Amino acid sequence: MPCAHCIDIEKEFDRKTARRDLKRYRRRGPRKTTRWLLEAVKPLLPEAFTHLDIGGGVGIIPAELIPAGARAVYLVDASSAYLNAAQENLSRFNGAIQKMFRHGDFLEIHQEIPAVDVVTLDRVICCYPHAKDLIVASSQHARRIYGLVYPRKNWMMKLFVIAANTYLKLRQSAFRVYLHDPTSVQNLLAEHGWTPQFMDRTLIWRVEVYQRAREAAL
Ligand SMILES: C[S@@+](CC[C@H](N)C(=O)[O-])C[C@H]1O[C@@H](n2cnc3c(N)ncnc32)[C@H](O)[C@@H]1O
Repeated sequence: MPCAHCIDIEKEFDRKTARRDLKRYRRRGPRKTTRWLLEAVKPLLPEAFTHLDIGGGVGIIPAELIPAGARAVYLVDASSAYLNAAQENLSRFNGAIQKMFRHGDFLEIHQEIPAVDVVTLDRVICCYPHAKDLIVASSQHARRIYGLVYPRKNWMMKLFVIAANTYLKLRQSAFRVYLHDPTSVQNLLAEHGWTPQFMDRTLIWRVEVYQRAREAAL
């Protein structure tokens, strides 16, 4: 049975927000931090590769990586509205590209998801209560490259999270937003064999791209 948090993810990331995100992407392209992630990932890619986007929203990263040589893209999202929008967004890519869309909490279904070359989580670990488990399970699905965007833990974001979670509680939603200590995230990934290749930040977000230590050493 899905957790209360995941049930309320469906309400927070509903058809209306999915349509808005897809419209924004079509008009303006990827947001700045997603562009940074893509720019850091692309030079590390082999000629042909497979990609898994967890919490992939409307499918922006797969849509940008297919022209860069992705031959298979897998998208997992806990929101069915976002998954439908991603299917629509990626419908223009046909031919030899293999696409898979899976609805659900990645931690609950990860054993059914194949390992790939590149795994990305863009603004996802801040929407999930068990971020450490999510990072470990998702990074184990990546053979070469692991990229994530997550919020900074500064005073401004701490205030934002208090306000957002108070609002969610008043609306009786079980969905919450979370901040993560970057040193803990980086140490966790180092323990699992990942070497940082790119790190940058805006006032709100951190963008980090890692490579498997053995690949980085080549
Ligand atoms: C803020 S949205 C970001 C969407 C997209 N990555 C982007 O940057 O446009 C967070 C997404 O993560 C998904 N999500 C959060 N936790 C998840 C989990 N454990 N498994 C699958 N999807 C999850 C939500 O359903 C939502 O679509």
